[in-house]
Amino acid sequence: MISDKLYQYIALPLIFRIFKDKEEEAHRFFMSLGVAYEQVPLLRSGLKYLCRYDHPLLAQKIAGLYFPNPIGLGGGFDKCCEMYNLKYECGFGFGEFGSVTALPHPGNPGRRLMRLPKDKSIIVYLGLNNHGREATFHDFMKQKRSRSVPIPGGINIAKTNTEQSLKEGIADYVLTINAFESEVDYITINLSCPNATGGLQFCETPENAKMLFDAFRNDCRHNKPYFLKLDPDMPYKNVRTLIDVVTGYEFIKGYIISNLTRNRDELKTSGYVLAQMPNGGIGGPAVAKKSNAMVAFVRDNAPRETVIIGLGGVSSAEHVIEKMEAGANLVQMVTGLIFYSPTRLKRINRDLVKYLKKKGLKDIKQLTRYV
Ligand SMILES: Cc1cc2nc3c(=O)[nH]c(=O)nc-3n(C[C@H](O)[C@H](O)[C@H](O)COP(=O)(O)O)c2cc1C
Repeated sequence: MISDKLYQYIALPLIFRIFKDKEEEAHRFFMSLGVAYEQVPLLRSGLKYLCRYDHPLLAQKIAGLYFPNPIGLGGGFDKCCEMYNLKYECGFGFGEFGSVTALPHPGNPGRRLMRLPKDKSIIVYLGLNNHGREATFHDFMKQKRSRSVPIPGGINIAKTNTEQSLKEGIADYVLTINAFESEVDYITINLSCPNATGGLQFCETPENAKMLFDAFRNDCRHNKPYFLKLDPDMPYKNVRTLIDVVTGYEFIKGYIISNLTRNRDELKTSGYVLAQMPNGGIGGPAVAKKSNAMVAFVRDNAPRETVIIGLGGVSSAEHVIEKMEAGANLVQMVTGLIFYSPTRLKRINRDLVKYLKKKGLKDIKQLTRYV
């Protein structure tokens, strides 16, 4: 597709040159473009023409929601909900904003993003920078009231990146859930931020997980599907224990697998370059192997009705197929959008339809592996 190639070979190198070593500024630039596109119907139609491809073979109903295609936008691209509706024109089948935390937070100090062009990957050390639940809710509602789009929209919720006791951390999640639950289609609970204080504690022991889920049961409406976002570096024995705990909480419908990895073994980028950013998790192809293995593990060990959303390294139809064949029902992407632009969505969805037809499959659901 010409628009996809134009972006990859002309626009992207130009943008990378203009914003050399200024990844956050580049992101800001794209978000401002998105905000501008949202205001102008003609620009939105143009974007939709370039990026969106709908076909009945791609649609499925999962957890009571209708997904026109299996590819969603993962957490972290639209942290403060600036492009809630535009995800539709960008070609996504669903999408989430966040991570949102109860209180605003500037994130970690210093350089926090580093592109690794050799690996088409990115090092992230942002530390849950966001405007907090109140300001984000205001921006979210403004967009939601302005027009409605036919794809599910979720919120990704994390705990504010400050030192808190376990109880305070739980209360932090609950505050944000209660602010948004009646207005969003689904809720992602981020239990796996590698760059924030206390980000991983709720998966460390079954007692911690139970305390958190009991609070959701007792203090939230839990009338929307909840998905738990997992750490790809989590030991499998902890994943197994978590699956057992989750079985008791019917509103937790499944898992998003996975967040960023701290493992750098899969990278081709030189150690010298990597040493410039010793902290931070990796997004992109370098996390794919780990997250696909965890998707397969959860599919093998969780009840059949569990929804799995595969995330990590998606930028082609082959990647979507790999994740679904490992056991995912849906997928998400983040880094792929940075390296390939939303025009890639049209290509992936078209290629998926071609693949389904070639294999004689009657819909996308048939790609998901079950035990
Ligand atoms: C710039 C950036 C910011 C991110 N911020 C968040 C975040 O706030 N919350 C979250 O749950 N995941 C966040 N992530 C992780 C992604 O959602 C995703 O789990 C990870 O990048 C692997 O997917 P990918 O290979 O498609 O990027 C972020 C990723 C990137 C690249």
